[in-house]
Amino acid sequence: MSTASDHTGNADTVIRVEGLYKRFVMGDTVVRALDGVSFTISRGSFVAIMGPSGSGKTTLLDILGCLSRPTEGDYWLAGSKVSNLSDRQLARVRNHEIGFVFQNFNLLARSSALVNVELPLFYDGVRRRERTQRAIAALTAVGLENRLHHCPNELSGGQRQRVAIARALINSPSIIFADEPTGNLDTASGSSIMGLFENLHQKGHTIVMVTHERDIAEHAERIMSFRDGRLVTDEWLHPKHSN
Ligand SMILES: Nc1ncnc2c1ncn2[C@@H]1O[C@H](COP(=O)(O)OP(=O)(O)O)[C@@H](O)[C@H]1O
Ligand SMILES: [Mg+2]
Repeated sequence: MSTASDHTGNADTVIRVEGLYKRFVMGDTVVRALDGVSFTISRGSFVAIMGPSGSGKTTLLDILGCLSRPTEGDYWLAGSKVSNLSDRQLARVRNHEIGFVFQNFNLLARSSALVNVELPLFYDGVRRRERTQRAIAALTAVGLENRLHHCPNELSGGQRQRVAIARALINSPSIIFADEPTGNLDTASGSSIMGLFENLHQKGHTIVMVTHERDIAEHAERIMSFRDGRLVTDEWLHPKHSN
């Protein structure tokens, strides 16, 4: 991969999008889910994406996470133009650079926390003993070392989201995309998940998190707000004085 500075003039840039459009054709109508979006995100930053329902947040995150492609426009991830990557290269980027956390956790209902977290390693061909060791370490890191063999329905919402975060972290991705990670959680569980994200940010991970709650967004350093598929405000928050 070439360095980001080739394209952006800034080696710290990990994400750059230029003139991004996503249109969905629904019968006679065209939905403009993204309507000309351009921005950059620096490596190691913690960004919140806000906006009302239907403003294009999930559409954007899916493109940034390489789960879908724009109708028009360019996306550079860590200096590589995503549209130029082969399927194989794209799969590698998805498995190793990117971790995804969803609002509804997306866990296998009948499998234990341990099996859920091991799954990406299984697909990656990692041997059983190493899978287990790494999954235990990831679950310990999110405070679930005493829940390894519990299935999702034996865990609280906050604990389920912790399992999902452990799974997202299992391959040490540099970037974590989270789509409304606290949307299904009570306030206390939501704050503890934000505590985990702040730790990850301090360790140098880049975090891009969608939320429609202002107090959740304020855990980030920067808030980008969308409306009707357009970026309408982009604000940098003052550093927090937490201690
Ligand atoms: N697969 C799809 N097919 C058709 N329309 C879609 C699809 N995905 C999203 N949309 C539309 O695109 C717009 C943006 O959706 P979305 O990105 O999910 O918004 P948000 O996450 O901000 O609520 C909405 O009007 C939605 O109905
Ligand atoms: Mg959404």
